[in-house]
Amino acid sequence: LGATSDIAIAAAHCFAKAGHPIMLAGRNVSSLLSIEKNIEEKFSVGCSSHEFDTLDIKNHKLFYASLPTKPHVIICAVGLLGSQTEDQQNLEDAQLVMQSNYIGPSLALEAAVETLLTIKEPTAIIGISSVAGDRGRAKNYIYGSAKAGFSAYLSGMRQRLSKTPINIITFKPGFVKTKMTHNIPLPDILTSSAQQAGERIYSAFKGNKSNVYTKHWRLLMFIISCLPEWLFKKLRF
Ligand SMILES: NC(=O)c1ccc[n+]([C@@H]2O[C@H](COP(=O)([O-])OP(=O)(O)OC[C@H]3O[C@@H](n4cnc5c(N)ncnc54)[C@H](OP(=O)(O)O)[C@@H]3O)[C@@H](O)[C@H]2O)c1
Repeated sequence: LGATSDIAIAAAHCFAKAGHPIMLAGRNVSSLLSIEKNIEEKFSVGCSSHEFDTLDIKNHKLFYASLPTKPHVIICAVGLLGSQTEDQQNLEDAQLVMQSNYIGPSLALEAAVETLLTIKEPTAIIGISSVAGDRGRAKNYIYGSAKAGFSAYLSGMRQRLSKTPINIITFKPGFVKTKMTHNIPLPDILTSSAQQAGERIYSAFKGNKSNVYTKHWRLLMFIISCLPEWLFKKLRF
């Protein structure tokens, strides 16, 4: 879901390389066709494209019911970064960021559970959240709070489904070089490529993991989460 995402494409390549057929879902099917062709040619696996808009909540169940085959692994890469300063001024823009990162993705995955529970073999739901959700910061708390909601959602779903064959993975990238961050200067030491992020998703799936970060970010977010509020308020990062 959100298959034009650079991270999603990289993850799809890892799954395709291992021989898995791929179903791409996005809100503009025509933009998926070249991604589909590339996967088929490069990895000789079946690949198809499907229309999906995370904000079209009333049709989420219909979306899964309409698929020609049931996906065994669902990756939700949908996200919208927005602009913190503009979103503070325009509440409708802020609402779109919150809906695109929390409400839409959470309910799209809720709708998927019904389908996955009919499959007997181990399956997985992988939600791409963000380190931005681990502690609200002045620079991005509108986006971050929505990701916090999505992470909490995935955590609850993981506990609820722990006795089923569905594993829920929360992927929390730090900085990743993608379309989303192309005009933001990122420090090399903390930045992963989309390919590294895709490989991390695939290894989390293979390893049956729960919460996964990109390089250095687990430790960094642990430290940031431990900072006392009086100190945190003085910092600007
Ligand atoms: N890049 C980073 O540094 C970073 C860090 C932490 C977390 N993340 C998260 O990683 C995920 C993937 O991001 P990315 O970096 O690969 O950025 P990206 O290339 O901009 O991907 C974002 C994806 O979300 C899709 N999307 C947005 N609104 C949608 C909607 N209403 N319905 C369906 N799809 C929708 C976009 O589709 P369209 O092509 O139709 O716009 C696009 O496929 C996102 O959830 C992002 O928040 C990224």
